[in-house]
Amino acid sequence: TPVAAVIPAAGRGVRLGPGAPKALRALSGTPMLIHAVRALAASRHVSLVIVVAPSEGAAEVKSLLDAHALPERTDFLVVPGGETRQESVRLGLDALPPEYGVVLVHDAARPLVPVDTVDAVIEAVREGAPAVVPALPLADTVKEVEPATVAGTPEPVVATPERARLRAVQTPQGFDRATLVRAHETVTDDVTDDASMVEQLGLRVVTVPGHEEAFKVTRPLDLVLAEAVLARRRL
Ligand code: CTP
Ligand code: MG
Repeated sequence: TPVAAVIPAAGRGVRLGPGAPKALRALSGTPMLIHAVRALAASRHVSLVIVVAPSEGAAEVKSLLDAHALPERTDFLVVPGGETRQESVRLGLDALPPEYGVVLVHDAARPLVPVDTVDAVIEAVREGAPAVVPALPLADTVKEVEPATVAGTPEPVVATPERARLRAVQTPQGFDRATLVRAHETVTDDVTDDASMVEQLGLRVVTVPGHEEAFKVTRPLDLVLAEAVLARRRL
């Protein structure tokens, strides 16, 4: 069954600081979104990439895709995004042609994910998992707190989950198409990833090994790391 990737790229990038929408900012001279599109299209299993653009920026994203060399065997679509990531993903799913039975959802903000990670996710879905997430063990211990009502004031610690049982999850997350569509039709709570919607349906989500280079560009220091990874790749 053919595989499509939906790339939500409609966020503003508030935590990165003032400037263009995050997905359009340059990494080593090339927009982050183009790196992300290339990373997914690098998989020979991915035959369609749907980019969910900033709502006023769909035309600009279309011309960016035209201006950069991308694999011939991959088709590209651009749709305008929504107010939340969840809404943006749903708008991408709405544009998905019927023949695609497997869908990946990949953050434009993870421009450096290696193709082996993409392929591992696809393989696990093709082997029958309805939802697959790349995951890594945590370096930091995690505390649950009672969030402060005034920013910057001390927060009481509520609990310390056992670190060895925790994973940081990345994208691309891979899904049986019907499962992801149903999750988006059913779950209305605010979520920060797609797999948690599938969990809420009571379905099994499995992990495959993630990759350090699939980190999310979120804050300014992440730009420094991304540039360093690209420089190392050019060596
Ligand atoms: N995203 C989206 N539509 C939104 C919000 C987010 O398509 N309304 C996308 C972002 O473009 C990004 C991915 O979801 O590729 C992950 O979101 P995040 O890292 O939080 O990016 P932003 O929302 O842009 O950043 P911030 O939260 O700092 O504003
Ligand atoms: Mg965000």
